[in-house]
Amino acid sequence: MKRFSNIAVVVFFTVMLSGCGKQSGETLVGQTETSGLTEQAETPEKAVEEKTSGSMDSGEGSFRDEEEIQIQEDSDAMINDITFNFETKTVMLSSGYEMPIYGLGTYSLTGETCVDSVTAALDRGVRLIDTAYMYHNEESVGEAVRNSGIPREEIFVITKLYPNQFADPEAAIEEALEKLNIEYIDMMLLHHPGTGDVEAYLAMEKAVEDGKIRSLGLSNWYVKELEEFLPQINITPALVQNEIHPYYQENDVIPYIQNLGIVVQGWYPLGGRGHTAELLGDEVISEIAQAHGKSSAQVILRWNLQKSVVVIPGSSNPDHIQENTELFDFELTEEEMERINGLDRNEKHDWY
Ligand SMILES: NC(=O)c1ccc[n+]([C@@H]2O[C@H](COP(=O)([O-])OP(=O)(O)OC[C@H]3O[C@@H](n4cnc5c(N)ncnc54)[C@H](OP(=O)(O)O)[C@@H]3O)[C@@H](O)[C@H]2O)c1
Repeated sequence: MKRFSNIAVVVFFTVMLSGCGKQSGETLVGQTETSGLTEQAETPEKAVEEKTSGSMDSGEGSFRDEEEIQIQEDSDAMINDITFNFETKTVMLSSGYEMPIYGLGTYSLTGETCVDSVTAALDRGVRLIDTAYMYHNEESVGEAVRNSGIPREEIFVITKLYPNQFADPEAAIEEALEKLNIEYIDMMLLHHPGTGDVEAYLAMEKAVEDGKIRSLGLSNWYVKELEEFLPQINITPALVQNEIHPYYQENDVIPYIQNLGIVVQGWYPLGGRGHTAELLGDEVISEIAQAHGKSSAQVILRWNLQKSVVVIPGSSNPDHIQENTELFDFELTEEEMERINGLDRNEKHDWY
């Protein structure tokens, strides 16, 4: 995937991020505070107003106040814009890389089934593939990517370190690179919080420095977990991947993450295996699907995209894989979005 084209902005981000690295805890607490914009929407403006009026009082005060205003403005500017581009079907990550907003999940796809599914997806224009150490299919994903004939930089591969790998993250990163065998990893996530997760993340940061991984993220991190974790690391995660579907919407968590300039990606978008029949057969979703001449799966995936949530439905069926790419020729109305929002049952379909 393309690196952010505006070099000046990349340099700006890099300088700011490396600054964070030097003052780790302090700066990142600042980042978190700055990004809690929804909850404290008026705070930064008020702070600027107060500082502006203070600056009229004295010459020395005015210099300091202007500096503070500049810092405030710079830190506001640091928050990555995660608006989805529906033309290019991508989003810009805070790492400076572009990522597709829909892809293929590969959980439970192994061996030839995995190779065939990823190949079918790549053949149909999908350019984002989600795998993990724990899916036992990184080799198959790598094989399909290498054999696709598609330029490497056009494909975005996400993989994950599992908590049982956190004790030796350097070895785990090398293992992923070796199994995938696709030169570099576009994005690596920590699969779950667990003992040694901070150290594992710091090792991934080192791998970013070394050019082995391009972007970092987390999976199954919620508000409390993020509040504790972020002050301890240097590179703000570019993405958080959590369970999200109409029966488990995470409406409290999604805005919190997005306001940090972090992209949200949903797993089990169709409810997960064993739950898809109920969700796809849901009366409200079926009605909306019928109104648009689309399938229930497409409506659910589109609902996610309109909430700026990246989708990675899993499938080994080429017809479904094709269907899951056809999300851009219709739009849900506000009322339809609200009807689907109304289906939330806080019903998790997996333990984490
Ligand atoms: N980070 C985490 O902890 C975590 C946890 C779970 C999953 N994930 C990721 O999220 C991805 C998505 O989750 P998932 O694959 O488990 O569940 P899912 O995407 O919610 O559902 C997959 C099921 O939906 C069916 N399906 C897909 N497209 C369909 C369509 N258009 N119409 C009807 N049925 C359709 C698939 O069957 P067919 O094969 O017949 O199409 C499969 O049975 C995973 O593959 C994995 O990459 C991450």
